[in-house]
Amino acid sequence: MSNILIAPSLLAADFTCLGAEVARVEQAGADWLHLDVMDGRFVHNISFGAPVIKALRPHSKLLFDVHLMADRPERHLNDFIRAGADMLTMHAEAIRYAQLRQAIWEIHAAGKLAGLSLKPATPADEIYHCLDKLDMVLVMTVEPGFGGQPFLAGMLPKIRALREEIDRRGLDVIIQADGGINEATIARAAAAGANCFVAGSAIFHSADTTQAIKALRLAVR
Ligand code: DX5
Ligand code: ZN
Repeated sequence: MSNILIAPSLLAADFTCLGAEVARVEQAGADWLHLDVMDGRFVHNISFGAPVIKALRPHSKLLFDVHLMADRPERHLNDFIRAGADMLTMHAEAIRYAQLRQAIWEIHAAGKLAGLSLKPATPADEIYHCLDKLDMVLVMTVEPGFGGQPFLAGMLPKIRALREEIDRRGLDVIIQADGGINEATIARAAAAGANCFVAGSAIFHSADTTQAIKALRLAVR
């Protein structure tokens, strides 16, 4: 895997100084900024929403990768688009089939990228029907809702299945692994076929952010 993307998850940042935290990972060589939106319904936690993203937008050139852990995310797409999201990832379990295609269409019509995410219990083939419409599939490698959990190695076959299906169809869909990514697990997720990696604790809780991101990249080679 040549070109991999590293997306630090802001959930693990120091919330008392979010602007400085974003600058820290941007200067350290992050590719994207992963923003975990939790609505207290789809997952137990409530994290932050569009106003926080809007406040950060003028302070960063990073691609804002918004992970919507929210029920019926189609209701909120516009708010996040206006706040400055570049990639909007919805959960397959949170949106009805009838609304999904329309939501993807709306995201693309706004000139943004569309992703779909799978909780650990949701099989890969659940989203094959719209794979050709997506820019990214996010494979949760922990249960969504909290940072700092251990990587679920049981998700590797799901990543492999998605990689096979994407390649078989000749599609250009990013596979993002999210949860428990560190120097040891990133190599396994990459070998299975993921090419974008979310890391919260491994990046924000490290003393040397530049070194932490470098180490993740190096572990994949
Ligand atoms: C969990 C979030 C993840 C989380 C990753 O619901 O989707 O993005 O912040 O954090 P780490 O890297 O600490 O597992
Ligand atoms: Zn996430």
